[in-house]
Amino acid sequence: MHPDEPRKQEELTTIEPETPSGDAIETTGLQHVDVPPNTLIPITKQYLKEVEQMIPKGNRFYFSDGRSEVEVKIVSDEIIRIRMAPNGDFLDEFSYAIDDQKLHITRIDAITTPEYFSVATNTVACRIYKKDFRIAFVDRHEVVMNEDASPMHWEEHAEFGGYYVYASKKYQDYEHFFGLGDKPMNLDLLGKRLQTWGTDAYSFERETDPLYKNIPFYIGIHHGLSYGIFFDNTFRTQFDFASQVHDHVSFWSDGGEMQYYYIHGPHMMDVVKRYGELTGSHPMPPKWALGFQMSRWGYFPESKVKEIAATFREKKIPCDVIHFDIDYMDGYRCFTWNKKYFPNPKKLIADLLQKGFKVVAIIDPGIKVDDNYWVFKEGSANGYFCRRSDDYFMEGNVWPGRCQFPDFTNPKVREWWGGLFKELVEQGIPGIWCDMNEPAVFGLGTFPLDVRHNYDGYRGSHRKAHNVYGMQMVRSTYEGLKKLMKNKRPFTITRSGYAGMQRYSSTWTGDNKATWDHLRLAVQMLQRLSMSGVSFAGSDIGGFTGEPDGELYTRWIQAGVFSPFMRVHSAGDTREREPWTFGERCEKIVRSFIELRYKLIPYIYSVFWENSRYHFPMLRSLAMVEQENTANYARDDVFTFGDKLLVAPVLDQGVTSREIYFPKGLWYNFWNFTVYEGNQTHNIEAPLESMPLFVKAGAVVPEYPVMQFVDEHVPDELLLNIYYAPYHVNSFLFEDNGDTFGYEQEIYSEKKFETQGNEKSFVIRQFTEGMFTPRYESYRIKIYGLPFLVARIFVDGKEIKTIKTVKGKKIILFDVVKGFESIEIVGA
Ligand code: GLC
Repeated sequence: MHPDEPRKQEELTTIEPETPSGDAIETTGLQHVDVPPNTLIPITKQYLKEVEQMIPKGNRFYFSDGRSEVEVKIVSDEIIRIRMAPNGDFLDEFSYAIDDQKLHITRIDAITTPEYFSVATNTVACRIYKKDFRIAFVDRHEVVMNEDASPMHWEEHAEFGGYYVYASKKYQDYEHFFGLGDKPMNLDLLGKRLQTWGTDAYSFERETDPLYKNIPFYIGIHHGLSYGIFFDNTFRTQFDFASQVHDHVSFWSDGGEMQYYYIHGPHMMDVVKRYGELTGSHPMPPKWALGFQMSRWGYFPESKVKEIAATFREKKIPCDVIHFDIDYMDGYRCFTWNKKYFPNPKKLIADLLQKGFKVVAIIDPGIKVDDNYWVFKEGSANGYFCRRSDDYFMEGNVWPGRCQFPDFTNPKVREWWGGLFKELVEQGIPGIWCDMNEPAVFGLGTFPLDVRHNYDGYRGSHRKAHNVYGMQMVRSTYEGLKKLMKNKRPFTITRSGYAGMQRYSSTWTGDNKATWDHLRLAVQMLQRLSMSGVSFAGSDIGGFTGEPDGELYTRWIQAGVFSPFMRVHSAGDTREREPWTFGERCEKIVRSFIELRYKLIPYIYSVFWENSRYHFPMLRSLAMVEQENTANYARDDVFTFGDKLLVAPVLDQGVTSREIYFPKGLWYNFWNFTVYEGNQTHNIEAPLESMPLFVKAGAVVPEYPVMQFVDEHVPDELLLNIYYAPYHVNSFLFEDNGDTFGYEQEIYSEKKFETQGNEKSFVIRQFTEGMFTPRYESYRIKIYGLPFLVARIFVDGKEIKTIKTVKGKKIILFDVVKGFESIEIVGA
């Protein structure tokens, strides 16, 4: 057929998609593409028209205007997916983002009115207006949560084929927006136009867009009600939050399908949790990965590494991990060692481990073109490297010089890559840091768009695969390590990723700068990542480029204690950044804050569990803690870590006090136990030695003794800090062996502590689930803030007599067996 000859519609619809396989890249035929009818005139913007019918098929409902089709799929009681097929042909279902969770559907009601069709769950209805195909999501109280401003539309992409696909929503009165991953800006995205196209943004600035990560998920909130939109499309996507057109919120893409999930709230926390159920969470990390991590581009030769490690131990500054940046490699060839600088890596790693240090090594996707290099040879021989449209290899310069790049979207390549870590694992490396995986290419920025990818058999160009490349690299790394390490938990870090990346990795915010504004940005970005499904994140503490002074470094460490991933890292051309490089005063403060991190490890680990198992974000913005208070949307310099610690880092130079808004309830000053009434602002002193930190009244916060690395020794007893509240509060403690997947077989212990305070009594109950038994035998109980003098204490009905009081009787201390069921403290 002549390419210009118009193709008949029937021909298009009868083409069966091939079953994808790893080899499919070489096959012919149509597959996973929606082909515009081949007319001479390019299709300019087309909108869905009047709806002709609704056809139900199980939990899917199909609507047609005679040419285009829309599928409405009920995913769960709160999640509805919308897809549009301009010519009636839906793409095969495939997504790198979606986790295979079993979600619950209670019931589905489909009704037709003269005006619209409605497909409803027990919480939300999706209405499709007959006249113009506009879609609206309406809650049970008839509140319109989200609705189309115009019907979904599309436009032919004349250069590459396929369509630009668009959805345009009404801006609801006073609506605000959150999410989208790693945007370096204030938390609220109202008025911004942003995109997802992973970019190596060396020394990025506030407002630089896009950065490294591609998370096309946002949360809208209006009238105190939240919902989420996850636009599961891997092409370059764009979001406009009432920026270009003041009453429109639009999202669109350069290709692929208009496919999005509406996620109902009404609370922002519900939206974030449900997005997590859809796209997954990070498995439990090795516990040591929650310790302090020291990194620097330039740790070589091995004597330097040894010196750093020894200094940490000498100075008694706790540290668990030393990172090896690209300097450990031979000419930046991945999976090799520079034998001059690191003559015996296995011994070095073993010696470090003996002192409690784990080594995490960097790996980049660029494989040096070198016929004498085994990784290149293997990759070439097997055809694992990416190719251009005309079959040339995708070549570009990165650290090692000219490189080729594995196609991580090919399952065979992922399998191969995962196996390449064998030697590093045997040498004792339990963690890998995946960098430059946007992918970054010097000069070009990234791959040209014509590079071809396997895309798990649904082949496509780099337009389609770019945004998932980094995620597939770290996925194959994580899965490979998991196999090689048998039942031990691997640790991975990635710079780039797509929605769902959290299933395979932690992340950091990339090449930031040593400025005060970047400290603020780090705090904003980590909150944003947390609400975008990626809790396990940190920033380069101290700033990657530029030079922090002691004050900035110290403040950044303080804030860093409350980053789920806590690592100092810097560029090679900067001055040293170890905790002892900024003078004695800073060293002392930094030590005490790193010690605080270690004291809080059992709390941090439990907060991680709440994320991993129940999808609660680890960092919670005030907007999320109290969404009904609209002033909170701009308060993005305060957040809670888990739900018990309120963290207000100092983010400005020379500042020794700051205004802090406290959410409703009572809060204890962590340092001096003063109690503050919430729902108001207080001014809090914050000399450099301190950082405003508060504990929710009623909380039970477990504490370890200071150790030089995580699990240096098993504590004889576990300290439980318990903060009186005149109401009921639940707290959780998760424990297990810290480094295997035993918890998947219920080898863990999840304890719930319920506290209830009254005028003359305070009761603590404990409930335990799971099959793990911690090795300590007792708890040391430390109770703060009792409003009465203690007369008697009963543990499981028996009175105990050994009680200590400290700080003028304000704190009481006693020991109980770890299996207690209830403690009753009775006032005089
Ligand atoms: C990139 C990374 C940075 C790393 C450097 C050298 O810039 O973002 O963290 O130190 O490459 O590997």
